[in-house]
Amino acid sequence: MEVLYRPRRLRRTAALRRLVRETVLTPADFIYPLFVVPGKGVRQEVAAMPGVARLSVDLLVEEARAAWDLGVPAVLLFGLPERKDDTGSEAASPRGPVQQAVRALKKAQPDLLVITDVCLCGYTSHGHCGLVRQGEIDNDATLEVLAEVALSHAQAGADLVAPSDMMDGRVGAIREALDERGFEMVGILSYAVKYASAFYGPFREAAESAPRFGDRRGYQMDPANAKEALREATLDVEEGADILMVKPALPYLDIIASLAGEFDLPLAAYQVSGEYAMIKAAALKGWLDETAAMLESLTAIKRAGADMILTYFAKDAARLLVRGK
Ligand code: PBG
Repeated sequence: MEVLYRPRRLRRTAALRRLVRETVLTPADFIYPLFVVPGKGVRQEVAAMPGVARLSVDLLVEEARAAWDLGVPAVLLFGLPERKDDTGSEAASPRGPVQQAVRALKKAQPDLLVITDVCLCGYTSHGHCGLVRQGEIDNDATLEVLAEVALSHAQAGADLVAPSDMMDGRVGAIREALDERGFEMVGILSYAVKYASAFYGPFREAAESAPRFGDRRGYQMDPANAKEALREATLDVEEGADILMVKPALPYLDIIASLAGEFDLPLAAYQVSGEYAMIKAAALKGWLDETAAMLESLTAIKRAGADMILTYFAKDAARLLVRGK
């Protein structure tokens, strides 16, 4: 008699499915992005990202603590300055919102890992991620400013800095600046593979960082390119990155899988604002089960090879994983 292999045997009960499950999410997988604004007691909801708000330092500390208590090990900070100018000069200020938030978090919650986004787009009046000279983004002049910004974050107490600007050579420039000033133990989580994506739309509302002219396709990657992702990641490894990141996540699972296979550094993936907003919007209309869609997308990102996921769902997903609701 011919023996038929029946995959359904191992799907029969919940206990069996749990036993053979290949990918298991835990709160320790998540990094929670937060937006910090000047002031006290400030909470500004972001319309395109229901459940996400820009917070002043005092409220941000509470939000980070709530996530930490659920097992989330890390936050990623984005800042909105008091004033923007041509060169984004507030980005490196020791009194800037991010630098203040880092100090407050490290005081209130010393074990929490604090990661800072290093970029200029939230601080420049033109909204680009670098310095503009004659209508072009000046790569090498920008590197010096980025290194200063990263240094100011390290001085405030950041554990890792995360450059997201996509200038060539920025990981090396930041590594050198940190090492020169005695911050050789501050790590670099590099946005190594960052595509010029429509899915950043809601974030630009949250961070008020949409470019005033042109777009970011001259520095962020073309969504059509996969081999280029390997080149970008190789450069960042050579320049001293400690963790690589792919961004966005769900539309780029092939890229996550290929980097996971090619590199032995830890790999992060960023489930970006648009990915979050799509699930939220469909759920609000009653078209998707929010919890199921959230967990399925996060599981898929981990299954593809991400060791950690930056996600606005971090707190909600962690709560679900620890408390079941
Ligand atoms: C800054 C930056 C962006 C994001 C992270 N860092 C926006 C952009 O590049 O336009 C996007 C994050 C998200 O969409 O959630 N350069």
